[in-house]
Amino acid sequence: MSKSNWVKIEKYKMDKYLTKRGVVVVGICCFIAVIIGNQAAFTVESEIDRAVVLARAGKTKEAENILLPLLKQKTTGVQAGYELGLISYERNEQDQAITLFKNALTVAFPQLPSGKLQQATSLVQSDKADEAEKILLSLLDDEATAARTRYELGLIYEKQGKLDDAATMFRNALTVIANKRAVYVGISNCKKCHLKLYKSWKDTKSAKTFDVLKPGIGAEVKAKLNFDPQKDYTKDAKCLECHTTGFGLPGGYKIPEPGDSKAAKRAEENAGITCEGCHGPGSKYIPVLKNAMFKKQKYTRQELCDLGQFKIGANVCTTCHNRRNPTTGPDYHFVYEEYKAKDTHEHFPLRYRMEE
Ligand code: HEC
Ligand code: HEC
Ligand code: HEC
Ligand code: HEC
Repeated sequence: MSKSNWVKIEKYKMDKYLTKRGVVVVGICCFIAVIIGNQAAFTVESEIDRAVVLARAGKTKEAENILLPLLKQKTTGVQAGYELGLISYERNEQDQAITLFKNALTVAFPQLPSGKLQQATSLVQSDKADEAEKILLSLLDDEATAARTRYELGLIYEKQGKLDDAATMFRNALTVIANKRAVYVGISNCKKCHLKLYKSWKDTKSAKTFDVLKPGIGAEVKAKLNFDPQKDYTKDAKCLECHTTGFGLPGGYKIPEPGDSKAAKRAEENAGITCEGCHGPGSKYIPVLKNAMFKKQKYTRQELCDLGQFKIGANVCTTCHNRRNPTTGPDYHFVYEEYKAKDTHEHFPLRYRMEE
């Protein structure tokens, strides 16, 4: 065998060996890529959580840097748009907030609406916005369509130049989606099973946040904050947003019309920061808790969160404990551990929750 042939054969063997090794290497790479891919999907969600905490702690630039790339991804676009919109909303940059919210809603609702909602949108198109608005307002508490209804109302208000109302509707539509479309059921539903917790909550400041809006109450504090101590703030949407539970959301606080006892009851059920104010709307997770209570069935925290329970932490509190709250200034910083320890309710060990 000539030397060159030998080299050729060896080279051939080598190539074959390399190809084989290549297959193995490529295989391993794919395997690793899949793992990293899965991890990436996993990290993306916690990235949003991290951004939310940063944003609500006032580190909005850092939060925006995390959220902007997530805006373009299919799985995270809606949530990232919502959170970015909230940053602008809380800075009172309304145009920017509206754009971000609207883009997120377009992704969330790629199709035309159906049923009564379709009827309303076609009325809008034939310039009968008032009639459309009436239909939509009657659907605000419908669990199945609550988010879409708010989106469509927002579009009407935007066209009419009522930008405050439009921004609020868009934000609330996205909040309903973030809440897994669950509905507020009112505090007596929680009290039934959590009587001890209820009693210890009742004496906290959170339970009384609605009362401070009444004339004459907390006069000294109000005077210090430049509020009129004799004014009735209980019908002021600007205050109710943070001093009641689920304001503007399905089942949540709604200003009652005088003489309407059903509406008065609903208002009472959601006045102050109730259980659902911190733990999220109950319509969908209560059935799981029922099974825990009556069938001793275990559950995971994730299971409850998938049904609208809030993953409790700083980001829940800072929807209200932020710098838009009138007691604070621009360098306000919310310290979760401090407030959690201060005064929420007594705590009891859980028996039915499984470790995740
Ligand atoms: C049918 C009874 C029942 C009702 C109604 C009910 N709960 Fe509970 N809840 C339970 C039980 C049982 C547990 C589990 C307690 C345990 O593990 O010891 C629980 C646990 C919880 C937890 C802890 C979840 C966790 O593991 O992190 C929260 C928060 C909670 N409930 C809030 C609420 C709120 C808010 C309402 C009203 C909207 C409500 N519950 C209504 C029975 C109920
Ligand atoms: C962005 C949410 C938010 C809005 C909007 C808001 N508040 Fe508050 N408010 C809070 C929070 C949070 C506190 C408690 C601050 C703390 O103790 O850290 C508070 C505290 C107060 C207090 C002090 C109560 C006390 O006992 O010390 C008064 C009075 C008050 N708010 C009135 C109002 C009125 C009136 C309006 C509407 C014009 C309003 N707030 C709008 C969140 C809000
Ligand atoms: C929906 C709005 C809202 C949410 C959500 C909320 N709070 Fe509050 N919170 C308020 C308002 C308004 C007050 C003011 C009550 C007052 O001073 O009369 C308040 C007061 C308090 C107080 C009493 C402060 C004091 O000066 O004694 C504590 C403690 C507190 N909140 C803790 C929390 C924690 C912890 C969370 C999150 C797990 C939370 N809050 C979530 C609106 C909210
Ligand atoms: C101001 C916010 C706030 C309100 C209002 C509130 N909670 Fe909580 N809740 C918390 C916080 C914070 C925790 C502790 C979470 C943790 O362990 O990190 C908690 C924990 C719990 C737990 C888990 C067990 C325990 O005792 O720690 C249950 C059950 C619960 N809450 C039920 C309720 C019910 C029922 C109500 C209404 C009567 C209510 N909560 C009102 C903030 C709140």
